[in-house]
Amino acid sequence: MRKKLVAGNWKMHGSLAANLRLLEAVTAAVKAAPRDFAGARCAVCVPFPYLQQAQAALAGTEIALGAQNLSEHDAGAYTGEVAGAMLRDFGCRYVIVGHSERRTHYGERDAQVAAKFQAAQRAGLIPILCVGETLAERDQAETEAVVGRQLGAVLAAAGVQSLRDAVVAYEPVWAIGTGRTATPAQAQTVHEFLRAAVAKQDPDTAARLTILYGGSVKPANADELFAMPDVDGGLIGGASLVAEDFISICKAAAGR
Ligand code: PGA
Repeated sequence: MRKKLVAGNWKMHGSLAANLRLLEAVTAAVKAAPRDFAGARCAVCVPFPYLQQAQAALAGTEIALGAQNLSEHDAGAYTGEVAGAMLRDFGCRYVIVGHSERRTHYGERDAQVAAKFQAAQRAGLIPILCVGETLAERDQAETEAVVGRQLGAVLAAAGVQSLRDAVVAYEPVWAIGTGRTATPAQAQTVHEFLRAAVAKQDPDTAARLTILYGGSVKPANADELFAMPDVDGGLIGGASLVAEDFISICKAAAGR
């Protein structure tokens, strides 16, 4: 049985004051009713400058810390980049790689995403590998080809065993930040396809693999998405910035 995971992706939002309010509200809810959250894993992926603040705020709670990006290099003359080992220094467990915003706005290609995935694992981090199609690709019935290629790049570079300590997030680009969620059936179809693609190489790894759905997950649709057999939780953008929404999505994943 896969334990569901809810990971907040704050993107480039926040301030010391706003983060404090958000983290205090979330940690207070978990401390007040730990059993409501025990059925799922929860994490927040924060902007780099706030890692120390979030690490301190989450200390002693079951909420894990993550980052949103990392360098494919371990160290060196790469001005402005952040290495996986630095994220580990601040207690990160997770790091998002290949988010569609990185692919679209910063030109990250499949090979670079695969290199970042491997760098994360070298540093002892759990990569959350994002895959997903654009609306045009879906309309042309290319969804499976696109997500298959994106996942395939990591399988080819890192091998199927690498997915034993990784998370995949299916995030249809047309559903991110748009309020237009994939239906539970649409999400399930793609999740099933991804798990089957891994199963072709290693059924045991496929059965254990956590596959998140991301794209306009809200308290109102979390239950029905999480009820799908291959949806193992969510990667949450906008709703992770609203304490009560994030809390309610975590509880939905925990079956409360
Ligand atoms: P959203 O973002 O929940 O705001 O749609 C999800 C994501 O980009 O990870």
